[in-house]
Amino acid sequence: MTCAAYGKVGRVTDAPTLPDLVHPADSPDSPWWRDAVIYQIYPRSWSDSDGDGIGDLPGITARLPYLRDLGVDAVWLSPFYVSPMNDAGYDVADYRDIDPRFGTLHDAEVLIDTAHALGLKVLVDLVPNHTSSEHEWFRAALAAEPGSPERDRYIFRDGAGPHGDLPPNNWRSVFGGRGWSRVPDPDGTPGQWYLHIFDTTQPDVNWENEEVRAEYDDILRFWLDRGVDGFRVDVAHGLVKDQTFPDTTGSMHTAENAPGHRMPMWDQDGVHEIYRRWRRILDEYTVPGDPDSERILCAEAWVQPEEALARYVRPDEMHQAFNFEFLDTRWDPAGYRHVITESYRSNDAVGAPTTWVLSNHDVLRHATRLAVVQEGYRPNGIGADDPQPDPELGLRRARAATTMMLALPGGAYVYQGEELGLPEHTTMPDEWRQDPIFHRTKGTDEFALGRDGCRVPMAWAKDEPSLGFGPSAKTWLPQPEAYAALAVDQQDGVPGSTLSLYRDLLAYRRKHRFGHGALAWHELDGPETLAFTNTSGDGTRTVLCLTNFGDEPVSLPDGDVIISSGPLDDGRVPTDITVWLRLPTGHDR
Ligand code: GLC
Ligand code: MG
Repeated sequence: MTCAAYGKVGRVTDAPTLPDLVHPADSPDSPWWRDAVIYQIYPRSWSDSDGDGIGDLPGITARLPYLRDLGVDAVWLSPFYVSPMNDAGYDVADYRDIDPRFGTLHDAEVLIDTAHALGLKVLVDLVPNHTSSEHEWFRAALAAEPGSPERDRYIFRDGAGPHGDLPPNNWRSVFGGRGWSRVPDPDGTPGQWYLHIFDTTQPDVNWENEEVRAEYDDILRFWLDRGVDGFRVDVAHGLVKDQTFPDTTGSMHTAENAPGHRMPMWDQDGVHEIYRRWRRILDEYTVPGDPDSERILCAEAWVQPEEALARYVRPDEMHQAFNFEFLDTRWDPAGYRHVITESYRSNDAVGAPTTWVLSNHDVLRHATRLAVVQEGYRPNGIGADDPQPDPELGLRRARAATTMMLALPGGAYVYQGEELGLPEHTTMPDEWRQDPIFHRTKGTDEFALGRDGCRVPMAWAKDEPSLGFGPSAKTWLPQPEAYAALAVDQQDGVPGSTLSLYRDLLAYRRKHRFGHGALAWHELDGPETLAFTNTSGDGTRTVLCLTNFGDEPVSLPDGDVIISSGPLDDGRVPTDITVWLRLPTGHDR
């Protein structure tokens, strides 16, 4: 096949020339972020240098060579800022300093410089929807009068009812319970209410206020000046609220509860103006003629459908958005076919790269999730009293899913530990749980165990205390028994291990620029398989990626098997296995 069309630098322009061409090739010299594989580090849980049981920045820096060897392009660090840690650092008390649990600003600078020296880009997490209630702005707001400039940085309202003792409207918190809390006036009498879409200790910031906008501009510059290559933007769809604050009946977990019915706190049109403003700031840091110097924004926006999400990555807004539709897809070829097609259609329409993601710190790890029969919106945390998912099935599917994901053009995100096939901790005793979701929903009909099970410290070495996470046996969350056999030192260099699989996939993907390839559905695609080709821009290399979701093994066409997510059965692809097969040159599909 030689039909792949080039786009101009960074943009896809030419129309597809094959009926089943889903996505044309990207320009070979487009900037780094269009096909980057970005590894998410959850700082608390990756590497602990001082033995206090909490991961830290010096611990991360010491292990960065592992990521170079894994073959990723960049790291994204979940928040490391000063925080009371009521939401694991997504409650920031000072955006310009590091929490002492994680280290110092100097440690952050060393981390950034070390990563760069190893050829790794660094993204940090920006949390602009809310601050911590311990932020100096919120303290000042509480000390000030209603109607004061200090209060106007947040969303304070008088209560409803004759005595103002009912919340201003019926908005809920994403973490359960109501979305408003009442505070005393400075003289101690019951006063106004403030909005918190998440925990009570995460007051929402008022983005209608220009002082707020200027402050976050400055925070962006603070980190850009320290050399970060970009930001993952937390709750990017939440910053602007419908200023009429209407009551709403929809679920807080979806932005659009019915076609055309958008929730008043999510995905409001006004958010886009903020991202245009930020894009202009980031672009100031680009060195002319050097696409490698480009700094990026990635939206965490739980927005549907794909078209609405693509509005965040229009040419003058963000660079990437997490593809949660893909993450939410159940183990089913029709679902994947649909989401892949729609993702390219909507992102290509705005010239943005599509990203792919299967796990992060907010969802069940995919080595567990893909073995769970999913009912409803998203499977939640799993506890010892729940039915236990089959770990072998989960791992087999997770390996197949990742092998499929890394054959797709665009960018990809990998969550720490998935390269080891780590499962969710599904038997964690409740007394360890820290997620505010667990505490806020306990004893209510919204009850959910929360996200601690995917945040457990990494397993580096089977026979070390804390599995090599740190020099002591301490870990802030307990590691499940299954982690020992999956530790890095058990998989390193072992053919067939999940770690070896990830390294092989990433190396091949990088070498042959899969992220820039053209994607077409293949004739082997059927109700029980998913089969597509990734063809290099110059048309010289076509790789078939086939996943078998059915019960019977599937035969392959002529070609060389490059990588397989598990053993083949006499040359055929067994159930829940993905294969990459290089098709002979000149193969016209
Ligand atoms: C994002 C984060 C999540 C956090 C929430 C509130 O969804 O990924 O971990 O709890 O925002 O900041
Ligand atoms: Mg530590």
